[in-house]
Amino acid sequence: MTKELKDWFVPWLMSAREYNTSILDHAWAHPENARLMLNENPIPPSEKIVQAVADAVRKGNRYPDSMKGLRERIGKMYDLGPDNVALCNGSSETIDAMMRLFLKPGDEIIMSDPTFGLFPPRAELCGAKVVQIPVREGDLQYDVEGMLKAINEKTKLILIINPNNPTGVYIDDDDLIRFCETGIPLCIDEAYGAYTPDKPSKAPLINKYPQVFLSVTWSKAHGFAGLRFGFVLGTEEMINAFNTMFLPWNVSLMSAAAAEAIMDNPEEIEAKVRHNNRWMDIFYKELKQLGLNPYPAHGNYMLVDATMSGKSTSEILDAALAQKIYLKRIGEIHGKTGYFRVTPGLDEENERFVKFIKEYFG
Ligand SMILES: Cc1ncc(COP(=O)(O)O)c(C=O)c1O
Repeated sequence: MTKELKDWFVPWLMSAREYNTSILDHAWAHPENARLMLNENPIPPSEKIVQAVADAVRKGNRYPDSMKGLRERIGKMYDLGPDNVALCNGSSETIDAMMRLFLKPGDEIIMSDPTFGLFPPRAELCGAKVVQIPVREGDLQYDVEGMLKAINEKTKLILIINPNNPTGVYIDDDDLIRFCETGIPLCIDEAYGAYTPDKPSKAPLINKYPQVFLSVTWSKAHGFAGLRFGFVLGTEEMINAFNTMFLPWNVSLMSAAAAEAIMDNPEEIEAKVRHNNRWMDIFYKELKQLGLNPYPAHGNYMLVDATMSGKSTSEILDAALAQKIYLKRIGEIHGKTGYFRVTPGLDEENERFVKFIKEYFG
């Protein structure tokens, strides 16, 4: 009896959730639409970065080394050494590697609902069960009690995004420690940490809790979503494990050159953060004035509760698109439709968004 191709695939391939990126094909084909639906940075890399990348291309015939100098520089930013840093091609790669590192079929990972949509499918592609605990009603904070109660002997990994995506809220320090104290591997994802420079990274926790690791990406405040650059911070043992899971040469010479160049020019990151935070304040005020409920956000995205408007999320997104604005679809939260997420774009795009919400919800 001949099997069909699909019968050869591992069974969890078909049952894993999909992370749908088709909106990107639409957005690249329609540059006239404001891309306020993705947590990208709207400001392109400076000429200094472009030049550094161009210089690196000239060495593009050579395999990269382990980039010790770059790891040293990054380590120093967190009071860590080069061997506490594993470089990667954006933190999506970390998300994939951490699942393969800790989960085998039948194991469980605990995370919040909602969460960044790439986490569940990557766990499911290891045959693991994703246990999602809804955030609290009202403040949308992590349901810490609920998550801790969900721990059982199959739990091999816990995820805390800090601040969370898409809700934008930081977890309380004491609550984070309670997760560290469980002894279960814990990923603290600090993708958006650079937008709140006054809030220190949780990296020092790895000195006390060796099962804790941090995931950092420079796709956001640094603006490298298309260049691709990120890293993991952890004990040397943790970093060795990640490096075994990562492919050799996962970080291109061009990405590494961009990373070095932006470290040489921190004012570029500061300007990008300033632009973002200024518009986040304006969005917050405008949305509030219209009677909507924007959540106080700490990244480059704002979750908006427009359930009181009587409009569904699909209606809002369609109306925005008619005005050449993409917004992020947020599924029902506690059974209610009418949530969306918005990320600041360039000035003109943001003005377009403010005009849209005034006309649509005003
Ligand atoms: C919490 C979180 N982690 C990781 C990522 C992925 O980042 P990268 O572009 O580095 O793969 C995102 C992207 O939106 C995110 O929101």
